[in-house]
Amino acid sequence: MSILVTGGAGYIGSHTCVELLNHGENIVVIDNFSNSKPHTIDLIKKITGKDFKFYEIDYLDRKSLERVFEENNIESVINFSGYKAVGESLEKPIEYYINNVSGALILLDTMKKYNVKKFVFSSSATVYGDPDIVPIKENSRLGPTTNPYGNTKLFIEQILKDLYKSDNSWDIAILRYFNPVGAHESGLIGEDPRDIPNNLMPYIAKVATQQLKELSIFGNDYDTKDGTGVRDYIHVVDLARGHVLALNKLDKEGKGIFIYNLGTGIGYSVLDMVNVYSKVNNVDIPYKITERRKGDIASCYSDPTKAKEELGFIAEKTLEDMCRDSYNFIKNNK
Ligand code: UFG
Repeated sequence: MSILVTGGAGYIGSHTCVELLNHGENIVVIDNFSNSKPHTIDLIKKITGKDFKFYEIDYLDRKSLERVFEENNIESVINFSGYKAVGESLEKPIEYYINNVSGALILLDTMKKYNVKKFVFSSSATVYGDPDIVPIKENSRLGPTTNPYGNTKLFIEQILKDLYKSDNSWDIAILRYFNPVGAHESGLIGEDPRDIPNNLMPYIAKVATQQLKELSIFGNDYDTKDGTGVRDYIHVVDLARGHVLALNKLDKEGKGIFIYNLGTGIGYSVLDMVNVYSKVNNVDIPYKITERRKGDIASCYSDPTKAKEELGFIAEKTLEDMCRDSYNFIKNNK
C-alpha cells in the first residue's frame, strides 16, 4: 500500500516525503516541476536513504494520473500540487482556478474511480481572510478572501465538504497552514523561489546572502507590538510531521472530515524575524520601512489546540531553528 504525494518535489511536498519515508511509509510521487526541480527527488532519496517511484506528470492529465493508480496500490493521497503565489493569482486567476480547483477535481474523481477515499489537503490560513479575533480557531469565520489563490483554497474546502456529505465513506483531513518557513536541517532541500521572493523569510535569506540589497518592511503602523505585521511562522519540518499525524488519524479512526490549523500559536512581527535571523546567523539584514502592501493584515496566528488534542501535533522548532535552517539552506544553494 502506498501514499500518493502530488507535488512531492515542491517546498512542503518534499519535506513531507522525507517525514513519510522516515516514518516507514511507502510513497509514490508525482510532479510536473512547474515550481520545483527534478534534482529534489534525488535529494529526498539521499536524505532518507530510501527509494520510491516517481512520475513526471501533470495532475491535470487524467490519463497519466489513471496510469499511476493502475500501476500502484494507492491507499491515500496528499495533494501539494496547488499554485501558491498571492500576487500572481491576481494576474492569472484562470490559471490558478484551473490548476488548483480543476486539478483537485480531477484528482478526487480519479480517486473515486479507483475507490481510494483517504485524502489530505493542503489548505491555508488564508481561508480566514482578515480575522476578527486572534488566535484563530478552526471554527472561526471563513473569508472573505482577498485574492484568487485564497478563493481556490476556500472552494476546494467546500468541494471536500460536499463530497463527504454525498459519501461519508471518505476520510478527509484539511490542514490549514499558517506561515511555513525554514528548511530541512541537512541544508539539501528548502524553499528556492526562482524570481524575487514575495514572502518574508525567503526575501530575508536573499538579503542575508547579499543576493538582494535590502528588505522592504511593508508598514510599521499596524496595531501590533512594534507596528509591523505579526504572523505564525512554522518550521516546514514540523508542518511536514503534521501530515504524517493527520494520515495516522485517518488510518486509525477514519470516517470523517477533519480540519486542523497547523501553526505554533505564537505570533512574531517582521522586526522580530529580522532581529532573530540576523542574530542567529550573525549576518546584517539592512531594511527600510515602506508603504503597507495591499491586502496585508495586521495579525494572523493560530490557536493550535485542536491539532494538539486530536493529532498529538506540537510544533517543536523555534524561530531560531527556522532562521538557522533557512540560512544554512540558502548558503548551500546560492
Ligand atoms: N513582509 C515584508 N516584506 C517583504 C515580505 C513580507 O515586510 O518583503 C511582511 C508582510 O507585510 C507580512 C509578513 O511580512 O506582515 C509576512 O508576509 P509573507 O508574504 O511572508 O506572508 P503572508 O502572511 O502575507 O502570506 C503567507 C502566504 C500565503 C498564505 C498566508 C497564510 O504567502 O500564501 O501566509 O497565513 F495564505
